[in-house]
Parts: sequence; C-alpha cells; structure tokens
Amino acid sequence: MHDLAKIVMVRIEALGKISDEEGKLTRTFCSSAMRRGNNLVASWMREAGMDVRKDAIGNVIGYYPAKESPKSKVQSPKSSERMLLLGSHLDTVRDAGKFDGPLGVLVAIACVQHLHDTGTRLPFAIEVAGFADEEGVRYQSTYLGSRALAGIFNLKDLNRLDANGIAMAEAIRSFGGNPDALSAAKLDRKKLLGYVEVHIEQGPILEERNLSVAIVSAISGQARYECSFFGRAGHAGTVPMKMRSDALCAAAEFVLAVEHCAKSRPGLVATVGRIEALPGASNVIPGKVTLTLDVRHAEDSVRNRAGVRLKQQAMQIAKRRKIQARVEMRHEAKSIMCDRRFSRMLDDIVKRHQGKSLLLPSGAGHDAVAMAAITPVAMLFVRCKGGVSHHPDESVSVKDVRMAIVVMNDFLRELGRKHQ
Ligand code: HGY
Ligand code: MN
Ligand code: MN
Repeated sequence: MHDLAKIVMVRIEALGKISDEEGKLTRTFCSSAMRRGNNLVASWMREAGMDVRKDAIGNVIGYYPAKESPKSKVQSPKSSERMLLLGSHLDTVRDAGKFDGPLGVLVAIACVQHLHDTGTRLPFAIEVAGFADEEGVRYQSTYLGSRALAGIFNLKDLNRLDANGIAMAEAIRSFGGNPDALSAAKLDRKKLLGYVEVHIEQGPILEERNLSVAIVSAISGQARYECSFFGRAGHAGTVPMKMRSDALCAAAEFVLAVEHCAKSRPGLVATVGRIEALPGASNVIPGKVTLTLDVRHAEDSVRNRAGVRLKQQAMQIAKRRKIQARVEMRHEAKSIMCDRRFSRMLDDIVKRHQGKSLLLPSGAGHDAVAMAAITPVAMLFVRCKGGVSHHPDESVSVKDVRMAIVVMNDFLRELGRKHQ
C-alpha cells in the first residue's frame, strides 16, 4: 500500500514549482502555469482511478463512480447517482506558499487513491475539484471556479479587466474554457450530498494546542474595495508644500485610518494589500493613488458598518485636502456556517484519532463559502508551521497530512455506511 501522505508531500513540491513567476510561486487564474498545474493534477486524478474533465471556467475535476454504476465513460455523475464533492483551489497568491489550496486537492486525490487501491466503491460518487480561482489575484474577484460549479457566477465579472487590460472572458477563452457555457458547469444540487474541504489553518491555534487537525465552525465574510485618491501631479522640486494636492499623502492618512478602525473593533481585520501611486516617478508629486482594501469579520453587520465608516473617512480626508476620492466595493462574500451533521461526524473521527478535537472559525475565505450556496459544507483544518500562510515559508508536516488522510478516509467510510 502506498504511503499516501508521503506521495502528497512529493506532489506538493512538484506542483509548487509550477509558477508564472521566476523564483517564486505565483499561479493565477487562466495563466500558463495554471494550465501546466491542471495537467499535472489531472494525471494524478487518473492514477487514482478517476475520469477527468476540465470545465468551462478552467476547473479540473476528477470523477470516481459510485458502486452501482458500471465504470462508464460518462465523466460526471449519472442521473440517479448521488455525489460528494471534495477539493480546494489550485491558484495561489503572489509569492505564495505551496500548501494553501493544493493540500486540499491532493489529500482528496489521496483518499480516492485509497478507495481505488482497495477496490472500494461507495454508494455515492466522489468528485474532486481543483478550482481555477479562489484567491482572486488576477481579477480582484474570488471563488470564480467554485461559483461556476455552484451556479452563482456573476456573468458581469466576465467584463473585468486584469492589470494588462485583458477581459476575463478573453482570458477564459484563450485558456481553453468557454465563457458562454459557464451555466453548463453548474452541478445538480439535488445530486450533491455536500462539499468537504481540507485546508491549512493559516493561523497559529493548532500549533499552540499541539494538534494536527481541527474542524471549522464558520468562515468569516469578507469585502474587497478599490479606493482611489485624485490629487494633482506636479514637479517635486518647484511646487511649495502648501500648494500641493498630493494623492499619496491622502492615501497614507487613509491607510493609518484603516489600521486604527480595525484595531478598535474586536475580531475586525482590515488590510491595504496593494497600493499604486501614479505617475510613479521619484521627482513627481503623485496625482493619483489606487489601493485595495480587504475588510473581514465573523459578523456581516460589523464588517458592513466598518466598510461604511472607512468610506466616510476616505471622503473626509479627501475633502480636507481639497482632492477627490472614490471607494468602490469590488467583491463581497457573506459569512457562512459549516454543516453541523458533517462537522459532528468529523469531530467524532478526529477525537478517535487525535484524542481530542477542536472547533475553529476561519478568518480566511475558502471555496466552501461558494459551495455553501447549494450544499452543506464542512472543512478540516491542518496545522501549518507558525500559522504562516500566503508566504513561501508556509509548511505542513507529513505527520499532519497523514492525520488528515486518515480522518477523511474514515469520514468517507462512515458517510458510505449512512448511505447504504
Ligand atoms: O483571502 C483569503 O481569505 C483566502 O486565502 N482566499
Ligand atoms: Mn486557500
Ligand atoms: Mn489563500
């Protein structure tokens, strides 16, 4: 029998080398690295006895039939067949760690490999999704892949432009997808038993408690804004300070206001992740500044109030400095609760293998947020060293990967028994 945890670790390394950028891991929506990554993951899905399809938005999906259905060439569940969806995302942030996303896809493939190796078919089919875009790096939208599968894709997003002015629809087409057929990618919710995602914790709690895995109770909502300050560019050497309309000074004041606002409300986090000052020359006063704002809280009402407050503050700063400001919400995802039934099953299994279990909310967003629109969802967190994520130092131990595989194998077996 293979050591599936070791295989996952070897595959994480191999996938971690497939990048759009030299010397760092960046794999974004519909990029050439994403195509190479999808092809490699597809080969692993086939090795695990799955049929593989790539859908209209660029997800790569493995299908493992239920025990009744003969091994047909149909590459997705047939009409009567119930299906459990597993998986996570294959895209990354810039200069990313190797585990955020891919760990969930590779653990899911390992669990199907175990079924395949033992000649086991369950009373339901399993699909493993490698989602095309969860991070939203290229188009400042998130969950594009899972939204397409959940049938909640916002077709207006197809008009979004990336930093090079390429529309999303065009990016999907040149990737080999079909933006006009996204509705065909939608899963039939009546067949879906649920969606279960394994993901690194991206926080320090599991390490503090010396636990390998934990069950996720809820996933915080998030809102992403694009904020712009419009001043007046000018000569850095000749314009007196009191005559300036410096857009970057206004933006800097706003960034500190964001930090102050988040620090003053428990559980609120707010981040300015990217800022661009134009024209971007050292001897020119910045005339226009654009920055991203990411606001999150477990309660949507607190997050919404913070968003309104920060928009007001941006306008007040601009008014006082006699310049203009614009704050636009670019993306919003509400908080979701994980399914109690699935979570209780996972809890019992984790207690059996780990001695104790823990229920943790997730500050990070996950594809489970999109899938929750059509099916019950559950998540299993895996300890990551120092809680570090969205950074090349992200790391997970093979021991904790093994625990995640053991827990998920038991979960599939128990769910199989419930659906005899
Ligand atoms: O940003 C997030 O929460 C996730 O990593 N996409
Ligand atoms: Mn992730
Ligand atoms: Mn992430």
